[in-house]
Amino acid sequence: MTEGRGVVLVTGGSRGIGAAASLALAADGWDVGVNYRTQADEAARVVKACEQRGGRAIAVQADVTEADQIERLFDAVTAELGPISAVINNAGVVSPAGRVAEYDAERLDRVFRINAISAFLVAGAAVRRMSTAYGGDGGVIVNVSSRAAVLGSAGEYVDYAASKAAVDALTTGLANEVAKEGVRVLGVRPGLIQTDIHEPGRLDRLGATPPLARPGKPEEVAEVIAFLASTRSSYMTGTTVDVSGGR
Ligand SMILES: NC(=O)c1ccc[n+]([C@@H]2O[C@H](COP(=O)([O-])OP(=O)(O)OC[C@H]3O[C@@H](n4cnc5c(N)ncnc54)[C@H](OP(=O)(O)O)[C@@H]3O)[C@@H](O)[C@H]2O)c1
Repeated sequence: MTEGRGVVLVTGGSRGIGAAASLALAADGWDVGVNYRTQADEAARVVKACEQRGGRAIAVQADVTEADQIERLFDAVTAELGPISAVINNAGVVSPAGRVAEYDAERLDRVFRINAISAFLVAGAAVRRMSTAYGGDGGVIVNVSSRAAVLGSAGEYVDYAASKAAVDALTTGLANEVAKEGVRVLGVRPGLIQTDIHEPGRLDRLGATPPLARPGKPEEVAEVIAFLASTRSSYMTGTTVDVSGGR
């Protein structure tokens, strides 16, 4: 497929769903900016695998909780690969399992900063570059939420679920803000996906609970992200797609 050709930035592209999305987008013909925070070797592996799929790719270190680092990230990708026309807002973390009554402010600051505030900052930077109101040529933002936003994650991480509910509201609200400026805003809500984000044993315990009776693969989320980023989803905006095996 070459429908997606252009430059895409994937935050948290070094591992898990972001790495799989980078590869799926490269296979669709995109040039890929692979953002990472700490895992330079993993990001370099993803870049090489993207190049093997025929496109250009670069790895850029940046912590997406910091506005100045986000600016540097967008600038680096634009300078190396050209104007960005899609952004996959994927970087995220969970906290250790615990009850709401046990959360302290430090834990809440961290999870909301990385999952919600960074998603807003990255989306804002994307709009300033892609929106026709800012002199851009339009584009697509795909926010990676979680099924937890709907299910609530009781007893595990209600803070994470709430931070992802904020991401869902960002998708709805921003899509309406920029629809007439050539920018579509979409989301995916993955369910239980086989990545290192889970505490050891969690997927063994819960993996068979969805109706499809297994955890998902990062590649199964990546396919949907690549679809949403492409012109194949041209009449979609302001909506979030569940990729959760029916859970
Ligand atoms: N796996 C699931 O079951 C699941 C389900 C629902 C939603 N999700 C969501 O999917 C997204 C990806 O999750 P995953 O499972 O693929 O996680 P993962 O395997 O732990 O990968 C997380 C990625 O995010 C990056 N990252 C974390 N904090 C960052 C920061 N401050 N700045 C830049 N990059 C940062 C990491 O970079 P480094 O490794 O370089 O530090 C890594 O590339 C997250 O938003 C997560 O909430 C996952």
